[in-house]
Amino acid sequence: MDVLSGKKIVLGVCGSIAAYKASQLARDLTLAGAQVDVVMTEAAGRFVGAATFQALTGRPVLGDLWALPEDGVVGHIALGAKADLVAVAPATANTIARIAAGMSDDLLTTTILATRAPVLLAPAMNPLMYAAPATVANVATLRARGYTVLEPAVGRMAEHVEGRGRLPEPPELEGEIRALLGRAHGPLSGRHVVISAGGTQEPIDPVRYIGNRSSGQMGYAMAARARDLGARVTLVSGPTALAPPAAVATLRVETALQMQAALAEALGDADILIMNAAVADFRPAAAADEKIKKSGDAGLTLSLVPNPDIIAGLAGRREFFKVGFAAETNDLLANAQGKLERKGLDMIVANDAVSSIGQPEIALTLIDRGGVASLPRQPKAAAAAALLDEIVARFARWRA
Ligand code: C5P
Repeated sequence: MDVLSGKKIVLGVCGSIAAYKASQLARDLTLAGAQVDVVMTEAAGRFVGAATFQALTGRPVLGDLWALPEDGVVGHIALGAKADLVAVAPATANTIARIAAGMSDDLLTTTILATRAPVLLAPAMNPLMYAAPATVANVATLRARGYTVLEPAVGRMAEHVEGRGRLPEPPELEGEIRALLGRAHGPLSGRHVVISAGGTQEPIDPVRYIGNRSSGQMGYAMAARARDLGARVTLVSGPTALAPPAAVATLRVETALQMQAALAEALGDADILIMNAAVADFRPAAAADEKIKKSGDAGLTLSLVPNPDIIAGLAGRREFFKVGFAAETNDLLANAQGKLERKGLDMIVANDAVSSIGQPEIALTLIDRGGVASLPRQPKAAAAAALLDEIVARFARWRA
């Protein structure tokens, strides 16, 4: 189930040109199942209309502290007291200053003062205002009090200057909200999950490589799910066409040797390793320094050397739970079982390579020392989320 389902989120919107992006965020959160109560500051109404948010969230938009609904459901502190999370996006310098000063001169600041839920602030303002000593001090104060204050993105501002001050895009904001909710309530809160994804590319010369068809989809979807469940996630990814999941530390590598080095670093304090990458078994013995030229009709023989088996090389590391994968074309169970033993894994996830590579759906077979279980054929994003949940259950038993 989506972690946003049924969550009560207060979305504060301040008077910034970036307020239009909040409408997309309100819509996405609502579609994911959250109950979104939008609270606008007075200045926000100069940029966007309450009717927009009302239509997108299906709920009344609140703003005026003196004109709350009379049914008593929304007293001046009720919103904050009931919220699972309060997000302010965009947060202006003025509202950040008012929150830092502990003021409660409108419904948004009153809600924030009264809430004990996690608070996320996404500043958006002119770069000079963001870098002003007063704003810098206010942001530091809020962070010291436990608020999550995002760094604005760098780029072109509405007033045609470049700088740090842009509101991150709505999917980025949604990812940060999911991460924060996960850390507050999720089963992986406090855990570090390391996931490898995609295929490696082994250079032949400066422009060619040996690679495979792995899209990285499953690994990326598992990383997003682990984040939603509260984990700090490190995604070590081979080249893919996918955008890195929001609020996930993503390290991009190309070769198997680079992936091995990046994982060694990331695994220092890991609780779970999910080795989903399709690592090339072989690499060219030496990559040519210059582009290899064709000479007449002569063929070309490449000399390959084996890559290290990354996860098998970690067999002695018992301090984290190790999950491997086996994409097979024949004898699925026997081959996967063999790899579980040979590579010293705690769990292996097997699938039929032919029916899943390049396909939108996948069926999975889960094998550990407790036995065999299966997940039905379903879209890869759903399969990845269900698989992550199964991994979490086995990790909990492994630790016990
Ligand atoms: O032997 P096979 O490649 O099928 O094993 C699959 C599992 O081993 C996957 O979890 C894969 O990420 C991992 N692997 C590895 N290093 C390699 C090859 C595979 O860690 N060189």
